[in-house]
Amino acid sequence: MKFFIDTASVKEIREAASMGILDGVTTNPSLLSKEEGDPTAILKEICTLVDGPVSAEVIALHKDGMVKEAVELSKLHPNIVIKIPLTKPGVQAVRELEEKGIRTNVTLVFSSNQAMLAAKAGASYVSPFIGRLDDSGHVGMDVVREIVAIYGNYGFETEVIVASVRSPLHVIDAALAGAPIVTIPFKVIELMFKHSLTDAGIKRFLEDWEKIKKRS
Ligand code: G3P
Repeated sequence: MKFFIDTASVKEIREAASMGILDGVTTNPSLLSKEEGDPTAILKEICTLVDGPVSAEVIALHKDGMVKEAVELSKLHPNIVIKIPLTKPGVQAVRELEEKGIRTNVTLVFSSNQAMLAAKAGASYVSPFIGRLDDSGHVGMDVVREIVAIYGNYGFETEVIVASVRSPLHVIDAALAGAPIVTIPFKVIELMFKHSLTDAGIKRFLEDWEKIKKRS
């Protein structure tokens, strides 16, 4: 299973990369808007920090505009993957970009039907948004389970990136569903490390070690 980080913060990406657990990065316009500086420069810097796919999203809503933006973004670094929203023009753009050898990540996916359309168009990745589905009263992970099963049934090569992750439980559920990739916000990565029994265990080991030292 691959762990991507869902952020445009260079600081967070640098720290997560230093943990030795990072396989890629996903950004979006909202995440880039939280960071100071030019988005293009930020994306370029991110590509120097992680040796893996870095998703950068197009803004255009029409197919030709999406393709034009995607071609420019893909020149930034070979690891750039183009995030395209699941719309009719988006799916058309995916087909055209994949045929040009530019990898795509179809985003804002909320149903298995949408994920099938992305796969049929040849998308490299598809991103179901789990947290936002949960927020709207649906079980987001059910959609992940469906997509993983459907892709498996037909041998679609599109990889599922579980996105809009809000908690460590989402990561466990994504893994149990057999999703190949989960993109995780920095604060959730930090929570994944934590367990009170680990802290208590270290404390006790150190206290017992002190007892040994006092004997000599
Ligand atoms: O990768 C998509 C993700 O950034 C959306 O997350 O929390 O805004 O729903 P969220």
